[in-house]
Order: sequence, then C-alpha cells, then structure tokens
Amino acid sequence: MAYETIIVEVEDHVALITLNRPDALNALNDQLLSELVKALEDAQNNDKVRCIVITGSEKAFAAGADIKMMSEKSFVDVFAGDLFGPEAEGIMRIRKPIIAAVSGYALGGGCELAMMCDFIICSDTAKFGQPEINLGVIAGMGGSQRLTRFIGKSKSMDMNLTGRFMDAEEAERSGLVSRVVPAKKLMEETMTAAQKIAEKSMIAVMAVKEAVNRSYEVPLREGLLFERRVFQSLFATEDQKEGMSAFAEKREAQFRDK
Ligand code: CAA
Repeated sequence: MAYETIIVEVEDHVALITLNRPDALNALNDQLLSELVKALEDAQNNDKVRCIVITGSEKAFAAGADIKMMSEKSFVDVFAGDLFGPEAEGIMRIRKPIIAAVSGYALGGGCELAMMCDFIICSDTAKFGQPEINLGVIAGMGGSQRLTRFIGKSKSMDMNLTGRFMDAEEAERSGLVSRVVPAKKLMEETMTAAQKIAEKSMIAVMAVKEAVNRSYEVPLREGLLFERRVFQSLFATEDQKEGMSAFAEKREAQFRDK
C-alpha cells in the first residue's frame, strides 16, 4: 500500500516505519495515525517481519498531535469520535516488539507514541515533553499515565504541569529511555538491537512482551503467576528444546517459531 505520511521498509526481518510529515515536524494527524496503525498491522501479519522500528526525522520524532487539526474541534466532536482512542488501541494490539528510535522532539503525542513502543533508544539530541498544558488541555494518549509509571510522580507532574522538555541525559537517568547514543549512530544502534531480537524465537519474544506489559496492569502476585505459567508453557515449544540443546552443544540456536 502507498502511504503519504509514513515510509515503510522491510529488510532483514525488521519493518522500519519512518514518520514523514517534515513540514509539520511529524505532527500526528488522522491520516498519519491511521497509516501508522495499518503499517503496524501489516507488519504484525507479515511472517517475514520479526521486529518493528518506528522513527522520525533528525529534528523530530513527532512534535505532538496535530494542533491545527484539533484547534477547531468541539467537545462533542472529540468525545463522540473518541479522538485518538482507536489508534492508541490499535498500536497496543500489536504483539510483535516495537522499538522507538527517537531523535529531536518527542512532544505530546510524540512522547506518548514513543512510550507506546516497547522501548525507546534515543539520540543525544532528543527532547521529550508533555507541553499540552500550554494549549489549555492535558495529555490524551498516555502522558499522564504511562509517563508517571515510567519516571515516577514527581518528575511526571513536573513535566505535565510546567510543560518543560527533558533532554536525553535526564530521560535515560529517569528510566524513560533504555539507551542514549550519538545522533549519527541512532539508526545503526537501533537496527542492531532489532536484528538481535529478530534472531530469537518469535513465540518467546511475543510472550515476554505480553509478560512485561502485564506488570503494568495487575498486582505483583498475579503478574508473577502469569509470568511463571507463561515460562512453564514455553516448555511445550520446539524452540525451548532447540535453545537449551544449542546451549549444551555450544552452538547458535536455530529457532523456528514452533
Ligand atoms: N501540530 C501541528 N503543527 C506543528 C506541530 C504540532 N504539534 N508542531 C510543529 N508544527 C509545525 C509548525 O506549525 C510549523 O509549521 P509552519 O511552518 O507551517 O508554521 C512547523 O511545524 C515547524 O515548527 P516550528 O516553526 O514551530 O519549529 P521550531 O523549531 O521553532 O519549534 C517546537 C519546534 C518547539 C517543537 C514547536 O514546533 C512546538 O512547540 N510544537 C508544538 C508542540 C506541542 O505543543 N505538542 C503537543 C501537541 S498536543 C498533543 O500532543 C495532545 C495529545 O497528548 C494527544
């Protein structure tokens, strides 16, 4: 399918989705969000794809939801139309791992999109923020919820109340991102991480994504039980036999997703 606001490339088992509205710093409008969800669903259904990367431009991962698109909408428009609801749900339904490669601005919906991915690798130029307060609204795709779980109440309140930006160093220190790399190395480092994931058993990869995400939904005891049962159930797979025999035989495992 031809997209107008994103670019999709599939190479070596990795689907690379590049947000591509350079004139609007990749602001998330209806078209971009629906193309993004469609591309993610295609990647989910494509057996060749084993890991997904979402990135933007050097200047902006995404500078937020499209303010020009939203400015004239009424409460009834956004409530009845459930603004951003179906798209956020669509992204959360993806079971394959998604890495966000963030350079430049990741603001508002941009920061929230990065947080909907499974982990974030950012360049040393990255700037994260939830500046919705400056527009007379609040975050609408997870900025008050995910950010609080990821970096704690005090920092999340600071970000959401003042609208200030967080640089890459602070983002790493706060646990928002997993790694900071020099801007020039961002895509190389992210694609290497994606390739590493692509080599694993897809069954185990999808299981671990589900288990880690569950830790945000359920009490610890329930989460631990879920993890243990999933761990135990993986002993029904051929990949568990292969992974453990390969270790004993001192060779690389050849996983077949079975
Ligand atoms: N929506 C629509 N257009 C945007 C945009 C956005 N979120 N962010 C940037 N743009 C547009 C600008 O309007 C400008 O377009 P024109 O040239 O046609 O005027 C172009 O992108 C370049 O932007 P700037 O000239 O502003 O670039 P800058 O380098 O001076 O500033 C910036 C960069 C600090 C990121 C600034 O653009 C900015 O503050 N953007 C808005 C950030 C924001 O408030 N995001 C939250 C949106 S609300 C939201 O996301 C709700 C939610 O939770 C779901």
